[in-house]
Amino acid sequence: MIIAIDGHSSCGKSTIAKALAKRLGYTYVDTGAMYRAVTLFCQQNKFIQNGIVNEDALKQHIGEINISFALNKDTQQQDTYLNGVNVEKQIRSMEVAHDVSMVSKIGFVRKAMVEKQQKYGESADVVMDGRDIGTVVFPNADYKFFVTASPEVRAQRRYDELMSKEGHANYDEILENLKQRDFIDTTRAESPLRQADDAILVDTSEMTREGQLEWILSKIQQ
Ligand code: DC
Repeated sequence: MIIAIDGHSSCGKSTIAKALAKRLGYTYVDTGAMYRAVTLFCQQNKFIQNGIVNEDALKQHIGEINISFALNKDTQQQDTYLNGVNVEKQIRSMEVAHDVSMVSKIGFVRKAMVEKQQKYGESADVVMDGRDIGTVVFPNADYKFFVTASPEVRAQRRYDELMSKEGHANYDEILENLKQRDFIDTTRAESPLRQADDAILVDTSEMTREGQLEWILSKIQQ
């Protein structure tokens, strides 16, 4: 069984996907974390200078990137590992958020990530969240949801999350970053973010987390 959850940045997709996977006993795959890990790898190796990605260098070294997930016993969430190092915190930083759209629009990066994502789906029941899961990674997914919320609601949620985790955040910077990522994600040539024709739309602006989960479950169990 494959459940694809796509949608805009910070619309609550991953919260819904995690809760759904837990409830159904499926494997959760956070594909955004994979693109974030590749971005961190680029930053660590100085492949991004002045906002420009050195694609030749990345292409040469992409085979050295090993991304994996493992359960964090304290948080009961999956943490992301880059070449064996836990990078969960680093990949959620504003620095990575700033560069990730530049990296995730590169064709050979997408090809490598999509192949890994399809392998996850071959071996387990999965709930996978991202931008192109229902359109490119699993066009024949059993269920497809497209999640969205207004940019202001999304920025406020991200602000609250950063404040509780880091103790500091800048609402205007977050809103600007979100709008910029939406623009790049929806207009890029390679697998732009769009709602699959057969995806069910979920607007979370006015929904509680519990409400979102129950609503999606009701669609699956119909
Ligand atoms: O879901 P997220 O905010 O963690 O995703 C980070 C970035 O990765 C986002 O700007 C778009 C990109 N992404 C993508 O292009 N395709 C995916 N399947 C998942 C994420």
